[in-house]
Amino acid sequence: MALLCCAALVLLCVFHSALATIVSDMDYGGVPLWINRFLDEPSVLSLQGRIDTAWFRANNPQACPQQCECPIQWPKALYCDHRGLADIPDSLPDRTQYLFLQGNNISSISHSVLSNITGLRWLILDHNQLQSDRLDQAVLQNQAQLCYFFANHNHLSSVPNALPAGLKQLRLAHNQISSISPGAFHSLHNLTLLLLQGNRLQTITEGDFKGLVSLNLLDLSGNLFSTVPRHLPPFIQQLYLSNNSLSGLDEHSFKKLLNLKYLRLSRCGLQSIHPQAFNFSSLIELDLSYNKLTTIPTVPTTLQYLYMEANEIQEFPLTSFCREVGPLSYSRMKILRLDGNKIFYHQLPPDWVFCLRVLESIYI
Ligand SMILES: *[C@@H]1O[C@H](CO)[C@@H](O)[C@H](O)[C@H]1NC(C)=O
Ligand SMILES: *[C@@H]1O[C@H](CO)[C@@H](O)[C@H](O)[C@H]1NC(C)=O
Ligand SMILES: *[C@@H]1O[C@H](CO)[C@@H](O)[C@H](O)[C@H]1NC(C)=O
Ligand SMILES: *[C@@H]1O[C@H](CO)[C@@H](O)[C@H](O)[C@H]1NC(C)=O
Ligand SMILES: *[C@@H]1O[C@H](CO)[C@@H](O)[C@H](O)[C@H]1NC(C)=O
Repeated sequence: MALLCCAALVLLCVFHSALATIVSDMDYGGVPLWINRFLDEPSVLSLQGRIDTAWFRANNPQACPQQCECPIQWPKALYCDHRGLADIPDSLPDRTQYLFLQGNNISSISHSVLSNITGLRWLILDHNQLQSDRLDQAVLQNQAQLCYFFANHNHLSSVPNALPAGLKQLRLAHNQISSISPGAFHSLHNLTLLLLQGNRLQTITEGDFKGLVSLNLLDLSGNLFSTVPRHLPPFIQQLYLSNNSLSGLDEHSFKKLLNLKYLRLSRCGLQSIHPQAFNFSSLIELDLSYNKLTTIPTVPTTLQYLYMEANEIQEFPLTSFCREVGPLSYSRMKILRLDGNKIFYHQLPPDWVFCLRVLESIYI
């Protein structure tokens, strides 16, 4: 009986860890991938272990490379993930629009491998061994339909250039990128999401992000920035800069970002913040958790979510939230996190409820 239990436990563990690998392999850089069923977009889950592949091979009349699965219900999708492939399979059927290649051992992409297909929409290469010098720069240039190119968790050292102009999402998190090729983004006017977290970027020069006029979300967390980069795309709404060692924030740090709504600056070693640093009214959510701040910085009255847990805050200046309190001048704050600081509930100034009058939760 004990033996049986043990065996069951081992089985359970194996199953659990296999599942965990697949799931962590497939976070696509941390931002979910929403599927548009009206466009016939396929499931983003791996078919590994979910579908009897032999059945498809026997029943699907369409051509399918030996290294892939071609499910009947998504005829434009090829699932060639988690197979230890060293290369992208050749003789890809020309119906291919969604190509899943994550979790393989692909280090290079030659010019010709995609030459027979023209309708590619998604190319997913997360968790491979891609190297910048082994990536033929022209390989994607002619893929006019390509809207998603994902290569998170590879060994790229620079942002590829010659990316197709229609690209909407570029996900290159957790590589070794230390530079952006000149002009890499110049024609990407439709790019809305750019993931570059977990790389080795130190600076952004003036021309680097030029052309990204539609960019909405930019993740630069976990790089080597020591100040907030100056030359960011001006219209971004979501900027993630956590896990960089920033020396401080000055009045110009976010000056040109007129649409900035969501700003993450967690774990940046921040000790001081200039009173004007957040003086812009577009801001909705601000994450300053896990820093070394001793006071609450001045934030706009439009701010709705402020996360400041795990700092060294000792005081609660009401002027940080409200410059004056009147019928219309009050803070729109809904959630305020101050837990893990050196401040206690009884230290709040008596009139704080007049200022924070729409607050839903406070953690202290
Ligand atoms: C492209 O198609 C040609 C002609 O069918 C074939 O000979 C060639 O191997 C194909 N190339 C790839 C990379 O699939
Ligand atoms: C991946 O490819 C390298 C050579 O490029 C090889 O040495 C290694 O054994 C391969 N790993 C797997 C898991 O196939
Ligand atoms: C960018 O998006 C617009 C609107 O969806 C579209 O008309 C245009 O063709 C796209 N540009 C490229 C280069 O695909
Ligand atoms: C920041 O670093 C911490 C600790 O190393 C890690 O747990 C967290 O996932 C990182 N967050 C981001 C956004 O990079
Ligand atoms: C924010 O900036 C405006 C000018 O853009 C200025 O009038 C205002 O006093 C500043 N607010 C604070 C709290 O410093």
